[in-house]
Amino acid sequence: MTKGYEGMNVLVTGAYRGIGAACAKLFGAAGAHVLCADLKNPDETVESIRTANGTAEGIVCDVTDEASILDLFQHVNGRFAPLNAVVNCAGIIHERGLLETTTAEFDQVMAVNLRGSFLIGREAIRAMQGNQGRVIMIASDLSYYGRESYSPYVASKHGVLGLVRCWAKEFAPNILVNALCPGPIDTAMLAAENMSPEWRAKELEIPLARFGQPEEIAQMALFLAGPNAAYITGQGIGVNGGSIMP
Ligand SMILES: NC(=O)c1ccc[n+]([C@@H]2O[C@H](COP(=O)([O-])OP(=O)(O)OC[C@H]3O[C@@H](n4cnc5c(N)ncnc54)[C@H](O)[C@@H]3O)[C@@H](O)[C@H]2O)c1
Repeated sequence: MTKGYEGMNVLVTGAYRGIGAACAKLFGAAGAHVLCADLKNPDETVESIRTANGTAEGIVCDVTDEASILDLFQHVNGRFAPLNAVVNCAGIIHERGLLETTTAEFDQVMAVNLRGSFLIGREAIRAMQGNQGRVIMIASDLSYYGRESYSPYVASKHGVLGLVRCWAKEFAPNILVNALCPGPIDTAMLAAENMSPEWRAKELEIPLARFGQPEEIAQMALFLAGPNAAYITGQGIGVNGGSIMP
């Protein structure tokens, strides 16, 4: 248990694996009630939280599907109210040169990363009306600069930061809205099927010369949701090994 988190209701998307699973487990260990949502059944994450004496439930949800998100928030409003925080980690990456990128590939990246962030954020903020709340979106260090062969992903992550900056103003002072902007983190997203060996090697050319761990992102998400982050809103918080210094 960590002071300030006991009994708070937290929704984590992308909780099946990677950064989302690490966030869900850390909030669970801190004493929060965690609703773990993912396109893939997040039972393993839920079990791991329960084994550590935390409380969690799992729900399958597709962030590209509005009806699925409305179902998710029915569950939130029934069993996780008042919603105190959301950490939106669902996301996909796509490496492809512009001239080979199909419209369907562009649409899919936007649907998960940007439209999904819009829908999860809108419904979370709706659920927080009348209360205080924390919205934490996962953007990227690529929210700040361009990278060849990643234009749909980079555009989606620039967009996430845009949503955060607008919502932080629109819903102040009760709801604080921030983005985490990770550098290269050691998850399946950086595996061979998603990223060429050339880019994987280039990712290590940063001051700290290593990939971050998902738990290092989760620690910042926990901080942003907690009592000591009450004066932080509208920010993109870099946890990036020095990959960028905006
Ligand atoms: N790993 C990195 O280096 C890195 C760097 C910067 C930002 N990020 C961002 O962090 C977030 C988490 O990434 P990760 O590294 O943990 O990747 P990951 O692939 O390990 O996890 C992503 C999770 O999102 C889920 N997901 C995908 N599409 C979904 C959908 N339509 N509906 C619901 N869930 C869906 C997946 O099932 C998976 O569990 C993403 O937004 C990613 O863009 C990652």
